[in-house]
Amino acid sequence: MPAIVVLGAQWGDEGKGKATDLLATTDRIDFVVRTSGGHNAGHTIVIDGEKYATHLLPSGILTPGATSVIANGVVVSPEALFRELDGLIARGVEVADLKVSANAHVIASYHATIDKVTERFLGKNQIGTTGRGIGPAYADKINRVGVRIADLFDEKILREKIDAALDVRNHLLTKVYNRRAIEVDAVVEELLSYAERLRPMVCDTSLLLNQALDAGQTVLFEGAQATMLDVDHGTYPFVTSSNPVAGGVCVGAGVGPTRIDRVIGVIKAYTTRVGSGPFPTELFDEDGIQLQTLGGEIGVSTGRTRRCGWYDAVVARYASRVNGLTELFLTKLDILGAWERIPVCVAYEIDGQRVEEMPMTQTEFHHAKPVYEFFDGWGSDISGCRSFDDLPKNAQVYVQALEEMSGAKIWGVGVGPGREQTVVVHG
Ligand code: GDP
Ligand code: IMO
Ligand code: MG
Repeated sequence: MPAIVVLGAQWGDEGKGKATDLLATTDRIDFVVRTSGGHNAGHTIVIDGEKYATHLLPSGILTPGATSVIANGVVVSPEALFRELDGLIARGVEVADLKVSANAHVIASYHATIDKVTERFLGKNQIGTTGRGIGPAYADKINRVGVRIADLFDEKILREKIDAALDVRNHLLTKVYNRRAIEVDAVVEELLSYAERLRPMVCDTSLLLNQALDAGQTVLFEGAQATMLDVDHGTYPFVTSSNPVAGGVCVGAGVGPTRIDRVIGVIKAYTTRVGSGPFPTELFDEDGIQLQTLGGEIGVSTGRTRRCGWYDAVVARYASRVNGLTELFLTKLDILGAWERIPVCVAYEIDGQRVEEMPMTQTEFHHAKPVYEFFDGWGSDISGCRSFDDLPKNAQVYVQALEEMSGAKIWGVGVGPGREQTVVVHG
């Protein structure tokens, strides 16, 4: 019966991979499903001290017995898909069964080309995308000139669709961006080369998942990106081009909202962000550098340094609200062991006014200054703690205070990257 959503409550990289792996191995999970985004994601899973990263593949690919599903809302680069699969196989991983939706949209190499030239053209206003072609692929989908996985099995249709997609794009590339036009034949050939290997994986994933839920099986929807990167609810335009919020799961998988039982927001005990855009609690001092260093805050996909700041309870409350969170999973509490005093942003000051909720306009959010409350640190290594009672008193106070101000109960706390390095607060 249960359908569980795991999603990012901040700007990404909260530890969704770890949370997914933890749930997939402790609760018996039958399906692990990606419903939005593409290989812009970078999820880290640490199993017995060995580190793995997944990008387009659901983290369930590492869970024996679980079926991994790439649902209709995902944008799929077949090249990235097989590169990732082959990378895991080369490491000796026994990869799980994988299903791909016939309706998922395809990222071809020209999408990445367009992503990069668009960013260059934006200059100082650039989004800081991952350069993987995510935005241009979703733009084609919405413009109704996208190519879907099912199209790879009909060469005639595929050629017609790529012809139509490249028609306007090539005018833009040659006349505006001063680039060479992309050749239709080359793209058709590129995509057809993946068709046979893909064919056995492709199915109606909405039907598959609904039948699984009807049969009482457990489905875990593994979020990618995060609430504040959502194209509707995030810090637009500094967002990704999909809906990583809970509502996006239903659209991206073809399951109804009545089927979802739990919505778990993964949230760091501080905040990070990659790429451009507003970030009220961002630190530009020694504390920021220390969070970055101790937290190992380097992007899994692009290797970029993550911007770091203190926990923002306004963001947490907002994520709880727009996702209808039933629980939070608080990660990386262990990193804060180095501080004597830990600031937490409880509200913003915007043009002289105290504001408790996410402001309505982008201008107000750009003006938001954090209002901090300070908590005593615990000054010790908590990575060996396995129960709430094991945590030092000040760490318990910190977790309880965050729970009170964040709009959802804290189900568990991460005290290290390994799945066993977890403290269950409300089991
Ligand atoms: P995701 O994109 O949300 O899956 O997160 P990332 O994998 O991009 O980044 C999270 C990083 O934090 C990874 O390096 C994880 O191994 C690590 N991590 C997750 N939970 C914890 C935790 O509780 N403590 C520590 N120290 N590291 C953690
Ligand atoms: P996971 O799943 C952090 C950010 C990019 C950029 C913006 C748009 O690992 O949390 P895009 O390539 O999606 O068009 O870039 O979104 N971004 C992420 N930041 N974690 C991610 O994924 C991200 N996926 C996209 O840095 O600012
Ligand atoms: Mg990540």
